[in-house]
Order: sequence, then structure tokens, then C-alpha cells
Amino acid sequence: MPPAPSAIDLTRPIDPASDTWKTIAATLQGNIAKPHGREYAVMLLFVVDGGAEARAGLADLAGTFVTSAAQQSVQGQEKADNPTTVLGNLGLSAGGYRKLGFTEQQLEKAFAHRYDRNWFLDGMGAKAVALGDTPDHLEQFYQSKKLDGYLLLACADAAALQQACQSARTALNGFCSAIHEEPGRQILRNGKPYEPFGFRDAIAMPGIFDTTASDKQPADTLLFRDRLAQDRSCFGTFVVYRKLEQDVAGFERSVQGLATALGSTPGDAAALLVGRRQDGTLLIPNFSHDPGGNVCPFHAHVRKVNPQTTVTGNRVNIPLYRRATPYAADGKQGLLFLAMQANLGAQFGMLVRTWMNSPDFPVPGTGTDSLLGTPGGVQDWKGKRHDVGRHVTFRGGEFFFLPSLAFFRSLST
Ligand code: HEM
Repeated sequence: MPPAPSAIDLTRPIDPASDTWKTIAATLQGNIAKPHGREYAVMLLFVVDGGAEARAGLADLAGTFVTSAAQQSVQGQEKADNPTTVLGNLGLSAGGYRKLGFTEQQLEKAFAHRYDRNWFLDGMGAKAVALGDTPDHLEQFYQSKKLDGYLLLACADAAALQQACQSARTALNGFCSAIHEEPGRQILRNGKPYEPFGFRDAIAMPGIFDTTASDKQPADTLLFRDRLAQDRSCFGTFVVYRKLEQDVAGFERSVQGLATALGSTPGDAAALLVGRRQDGTLLIPNFSHDPGGNVCPFHAHVRKVNPQTTVTGNRVNIPLYRRATPYAADGKQGLLFLAMQANLGAQFGMLVRTWMNSPDFPVPGTGTDSLLGTPGGVQDWKGKRHDVGRHVTFRGGEFFFLPSLAFFRSLST
């Protein structure tokens, strides 16, 4: 018997063996509660024509390509035997829901948050000022189109992914006016993921299962009820997608410049920008043991986005469930940054506005996140004033919701 909806308690981490989780996992998309872990991924971003054809088309697309959380865990057990299994996610922007015929009133009711309901419904473009985004840096596709949705396909086998991608494009062509492909690939060293500046990535990963060893979070920091699906046990999540280009040569020049200014090695200087060494080792695990920011600068990336405690000693944490894949094409590289959460305004929005881009957080005069905060400028580096510049550029993106599989099924009726 599935648990009664009232028995679904998301205010704490979930037991993955419980009936509650089994009920949720049957219709929740995969890659939400657990990363897909595959080497190759393609984002197919699309603009739909709208109306009944789009509803039927999306229902079919979801039926063919989307993997549930329950299927993902079976695939996980089979992965060694079958590297060609493809995981699929299908997300919709608020614009996409509108094209499907949902009214503003329905959307407000479905996606309203107690504190901030506008981030998803307004879309990323409307938040450019709050996010420090510069519209003229957008790539042509992102500048000219309003994205309605994305299909992410991920696979350990490049040829199998190509094949899946081809048939997905054929399906999308039936009801979309534009499709844009962003291929990504993990950068693996000794089997561990790295990002293009050369740092270990995907280390500090929050999780909602009560069995995960580190950083367990209440499930309601990730799962949001899919109120457009009939069943009360249907959940989804909000997704931030940002194509972030990384100027690796510029970053290395800045690191060299900082190393010269400090009389240190480039490796030590690079670690000050991130707060971790390139192999992932933290400069200091507990920031309260470094109250002056002398070991790990306050503006180092990981200290800005996870300061651990406020200056008055209160624990703080904004969980973001990161699912990025690096890309490299036409001499350019960077991250197809994806971050999931239950509340865009209170999680991604808050983190960017009040921490990453706030020059006086956590202490006055800190400046912004030295990896990607805006604006950049001169900052304090172990007592020396220096400007490392910024080498990450926002090229395009959108906010999406990953609905339940039950929602997509309901579109065909
Ligand atoms: C090109 C852009 C970016 C690069 C190169 C980058 C790089 C890194 C690296 C190397 C780490 C440490 C390894 C790890 O814990 O996974 C990290 C951690 C993290 N990053 Fe980023 N990042 C980027 C963009 C972002 C953005 C846009 C956000 C959110 C707005 C973000 C939020 C985080 C968070 C929350 C952590 C974990 C911090 C912790 O708990 O220790 N990052 N990032």
C-alpha cells in the first residue's frame, strides 16, 4: 500500500528503503535525488510551437526518454553490465507551461512559494540585474529565443548517446520551432570529475537520503510538490541552467599574477581563489578556525557560497544540488551549470545576491566571489591588494521545473 499523502514528511532526510520514497520515486525524475554519474551528456534546448500538438509531443517524449528515480536506481545497479543505458530529464520553463495552455492563475497556484513566488514565473532574463548578468554577453541562440524546455540525455557510451540524441531530435522536430544542442563531457582524472580551470569538482554535494554519509538535508530543500499532477505524491524540482564560459588562459594569467604578487607558487595562488587546492583539498575545513580569512580568503569561491557560519557564529547553509557538466567546443569551454532546489528565490537567488555578489559578505570590504562574482575589482589577498579579474562569462540560461512523470502522462489526455 502506498503511504497516505499526509504521511509524506519532507521536513527531514528520507529513508531510501521506505514506502514513502518508493511512492515518490515511481514518478519523480531521475538525476534529482542522485546525480546521473555518466561521462557524456547532451542538453537539447527547445522552443515549442504550442497547443495540443506540443502537449501530445511532450507526453510522448517523456514516455520514451525520461527516466524515473526508481528506474535510475535499477540502472545504477546494472551500470557495469550495460553502459549504453541513457538517462533522460525533461524540464519546462514558465514560458513552456504557458505555451501548453496553462493560465497565469494556474501557474501562480502551482508554483507559488511562501516567501518568493516570482523567480520561476518571471524567468532568468527578468532577474538579470539581481544576478549581475550582462545581456550582450549572451550567445546568439539564447539572445534570440525564449526557451520553453530542455531534454537532457546522459550516457556512459558516446555512440549510444548520439543515437538517442538523433531520435530525440526527430521527435522534437514534430512540435518544436527551434532546437539547440549543447554537448557536454565530464573531465575525468583517475575517475574523478574536474572542471575546466583544473579543480576537482562535485565534492561538496548535499543529499536528501538519511543514509548518505555527509551533508544530509531535509528533502523539502530539493523536492517541490508537482501541483499540476493529480496525485499528491508527485514531486518535481526547480532547475537553474546557466552556460558559463571559462577563459582558462586568462584564469592562468591571473593566477600567475597573484602568485608573483604574493611570492607564492601558482598552485598556492589558485587555491586562494577557490578555497580548495586543485586536487580538492580544502585550505581549511572549518572556517571558524580562520576568523580573519588569513588561510582561506572570505572571497574564495567555496567560502563565499558556503561560509558555514555567520560572523556571530550561527550555522548557515543554502543547499544547492549541483549537476553540472563541462563542455568544450569551437575553442571555447566552460560548464553547463545545472543546480536543483525546491525554491529558486530562497536558494539560488539568495546565494547569488546576498553571498556571491555581495561585496560586504561575510565582512565589510570582502568583495564578490573571486571566481565568478560580479563586479570584480581589487581585493585583499593575505594583506596584499590585488585584482584577479573575472574569467567566467554567462552565455545563456533559464529557470526550469522538472515535473513528475505523471504530469507528462496527463498531457496526452
Ligand atoms: C564556471 C563556474 C564555476 C566553477 C569553475 C566552479 C567551481 C567550483 C569548485 C572547484 C568547487 C569545489 C568542489 C566542490 O565542492 O564541488 C565548487 C563548489 C561549489 N560551487 Fe562552484 N563553480 C562554478 C559556478 C558555481 C555557481 C554559479 C554556483 C552557484 C550559484 C556555485 C556553487 C557552488 C557550491 C554551493 C559549491 C559547494 C561549496 C561547499 O559546500 O563547499 N558554483 N565550485
